[in-house]
Amino acid sequence: MPTTIGGCCDMPTPTSHLRIFPDASQLFHAAAAEIAQMIANHNGERFRLVLSGGRTPEGVYQLLGTTFADAIPWGKVELFWGDDRYVPHHHPASNFGMVRRSLLERVPIPPGQVHPIPTSAVSPTAAATAYEEMLRRVVGGQGEVPRFDLLLLGMGDDGHTASLFPGGDWLAEESAWVVASRAPVPPHDRITLTFPLLNAARRTMILVTGETKRPILQEILDNPAAAATRYPIANLSPQGEVRWLIG
Ligand code: 6PG
Repeated sequence: MPTTIGGCCDMPTPTSHLRIFPDASQLFHAAAAEIAQMIANHNGERFRLVLSGGRTPEGVYQLLGTTFADAIPWGKVELFWGDDRYVPHHHPASNFGMVRRSLLERVPIPPGQVHPIPTSAVSPTAAATAYEEMLRRVVGGQGEVPRFDLLLLGMGDDGHTASLFPGGDWLAEESAWVVASRAPVPPHDRITLTFPLLNAARRTMILVTGETKRPILQEILDNPAAAATRYPIANLSPQGEVRWLIG
């Protein structure tokens, strides 16, 4: 029985969990606490974390770099980006620039473990190709799709996630790991991981803030199949655990 988005707090299922928060600041704190605990409890040598962009996650990154900084073994953290805008890293719209300001300047992650999307490449496609080559080199194993330890995602007002916007052929991409895409709002040129990469994550945390997104979330909860024809995020088919945090 779907939980109403405006209603009660949790919708635990075998693979997904939904929590609703009274405001964004409580969502930020809960998300940062969960991420810090995942990293601290991680047994492996590296905790491979894919970051999302936009406005929502910045509050989480700031808490990770301050309130929770001492609880995280930063030497094991390896950062990747789920998407970025095709702008220089110093541009105000850069997702990498946002993470640098909110987190990287505060914590001691080894520079070789920080993998931004190379938006200085000659074209969005060249940036996507270069990022995929890096992924295959760093986490590609024998060529199988890498399984990131935690994938952070957001959702736009049109149901996009990462930079997988409605209506593009990037939604149907099944072999490339990283592609160029186009956003309906500037900066129009984007670089994004594709669904095969997103779906392979061991855990996915989807952070959604803003009242305007509640109707889409309700559609997804009420009728996922119909929602999938309209909203890219409803086409996610994660292999691992999914946690929705809604504020
Ligand atoms: C981006 C993000 C994008 C974001 C959504 C939601 O580059 O913009 O990766 O997918 O998660 O647009 O953004 P907000 O959380 O700021 O509304």
